[in-house]
Amino acid sequence: MKKIPAKKLLECAIDAVKTAGEHASNNSNRRRNIVEIFRHDVKLQLDIECQQKAEHVIRKRFPKHSILGEEDSFGKPKTVMSDYEWIVDPIDGTVNFHHGLRSWCSSVAVRFRGEVVAGAVFAPELGELYTASIDTPARLNGKVITVSKVDKLSDSLIMTGLDKNTDSSIPPYAMLKAIAGNVQKARLMGVAALDMCQVACGRAEGYFEAHIYIWDIAAAGLIVRQAGGKSEQIGKI
Ligand code: IPD
Ligand code: CA
Repeated sequence: MKKIPAKKLLECAIDAVKTAGEHASNNSNRRRNIVEIFRHDVKLQLDIECQQKAEHVIRKRFPKHSILGEEDSFGKPKTVMSDYEWIVDPIDGTVNFHHGLRSWCSSVAVRFRGEVVAGAVFAPELGELYTASIDTPARLNGKVITVSKVDKLSDSLIMTGLDKNTDSSIPPYAMLKAIAGNVQKARLMGVAALDMCQVACGRAEGYFEAHIYIWDIAAAGLIVRQAGGKSEQIGKI
């Protein structure tokens, strides 16, 4: 498969993430429409619709590429894997969105043979678009961003999240307790991709979470790295 310039992929990621985010934002009067309910999470009709919107944008430009989505709207078996794989989280921070909090976002990344090469995170209600590609720096609303210069843990703001299966997983609480006592502040905002973007633009010094999914961190991980930070996923779910 011919290699596509990262710039072109990023343009598509931006288009897809904006389309998904704007659809959720324009239809926020339907934020209470639940399709499935779990003890610590909800799946909304808008999660599914926004995934379809993002997929539509990607398929129009790159019909042969694979798509991995949190909501996998078309329920298709992926028999033929392309070198290019798009990773979509149509609404990250679904519970925040459902309750009317403004901290939620859409996230779209693309990887080439396993390496994330472009990604965009869009938070419509905050008016923030974070972008990066392997050939370009991380940007917030078009302006280049860099990670914080704070180098002491005791002066740091560290963000974390609690996954959907928190009942059965004690480690997140133990990790939070261990970190909270040693940093200036620990913060839990409920939207992993946006948490990581706070690190990319220097508002926070770090983010950690157990049991995170690839669609939560694919785009934001690249944005952190292109902003001069480090991002690592240990183990895979
Ligand atoms: C969740 C959010 C949350 C994090 C969870 C994620 P979702 O994603 O990012 O902050 O703590 O681990 O699953 O379900 O809202 O897309
Ligand atoms: Ca989601």
